[in-house]
Amino acid sequence: MLIIVIILILLLQIIFRFAWLAQKSQECRIPDNEKIREKLKGVITNCQKDLRKIYGETERVLGRRLEAPTKKGVEMAKKLIEMGCNPEVAKDLTVLTLYDVAILIDDSGSMIMGENGKRKKTLIQFVDHITEIYSMANESGILAMHFMNRGGGKVSWTGKSQEYVDHHSYGGVPRIGTALKKKILDRFAIGNGNQSKPLLVLTVTSSAVEGEKRDHLKNVIRDCVMERRGAGKGRDVLFQFTRVGKDPGAARLLRDLDKDPDLGEYIGVLPVEFNLENQLADKWVILRKVLVGAILPGVKPPHLNPLERMKEGRWKWKKRG
Ligand SMILES: *[C@@H]1O[C@H](CO)[C@@H](O)[C@H](O)[C@H]1NC(C)=O
Ligand SMILES: *[C@@H]1O[C@H](CO)[C@@H](O)[C@H](O)[C@H]1NC(C)=O
Repeated sequence: MLIIVIILILLLQIIFRFAWLAQKSQECRIPDNEKIREKLKGVITNCQKDLRKIYGETERVLGRRLEAPTKKGVEMAKKLIEMGCNPEVAKDLTVLTLYDVAILIDDSGSMIMGENGKRKKTLIQFVDHITEIYSMANESGILAMHFMNRGGGKVSWTGKSQEYVDHHSYGGVPRIGTALKKKILDRFAIGNGNQSKPLLVLTVTSSAVEGEKRDHLKNVIRDCVMERRGAGKGRDVLFQFTRVGKDPGAARLLRDLDKDPDLGEYIGVLPVEFNLENQLADKWVILRKVLVGAILPGVKPPHLNPLERMKEGRWKWKKRG
């Protein structure tokens, strides 16, 4: 009897010890202030250098402007890790504290046709994941969310998208370039002298571009990049494209955007090999690619031919014209 009691006590002690160690190691893995500041500063000084124009050219100004995002980033990493996100990925995601985020959603017929309505379900889940994560970076939520064709958009979005996405009237063709310009860029980037944060535009499509010239989308992106440059804003708009469903035309579109020698640097795509429907299985890997793929070169290989090649030539020419 006594032996059993002793064994039980020993067992309990071992269990407590393990629980304590596990908690301890979990705490160690949450990045602290120092680590997050380093991460954010690294993005600004190494991979997105034009952000210095927004966040400060001198160490002193940069340090001051990074205080708030750093604080937010630490809270964010803690929450993400509690949700089961791996600490490295969580740290990468804190980079979102430096950006505003807008979402443009394809509401062409293809979003509801094909694959038994699965696309819309995937879309809802996807938008909700993004909103949830981004709302940790900025509690005001998504700067703007719009459908390409119809309906009004949402601003400062933090809610669940079920009703908005489910009750929407789908139809027509995806004029991605036209919608991107009209609904997002003209309102939140181009000509906005007050843009205080860089903008990350997430476009979700279930099909290829239709109803506009084939190269219109690229021209819209190029014009925006050039305009921002001319305004001395540098690279402060980045574009991310994600495919919902299995449409091969959408896959071709994403591949083409990704490997564009001039614009690829400003564009991130979720590789079409990743299946958004299975996102729950590798949710964090996918969300990291979608949310910070365009920002962090580690998540997306750097492009060798930046827009430099196009030079200021076109911009000057446009100004003269
Ligand atoms: C959060 O986002 C809103 C727009 O939705 C923006 O006006 C505000 O400045 C952002 N907050 C911070 C701390 O950047
Ligand atoms: C920029 O801010 C000023 C003052 O806050 C405001 O008057 C002006 O309309 C803003 N401009 C734009 C393009 O939002």
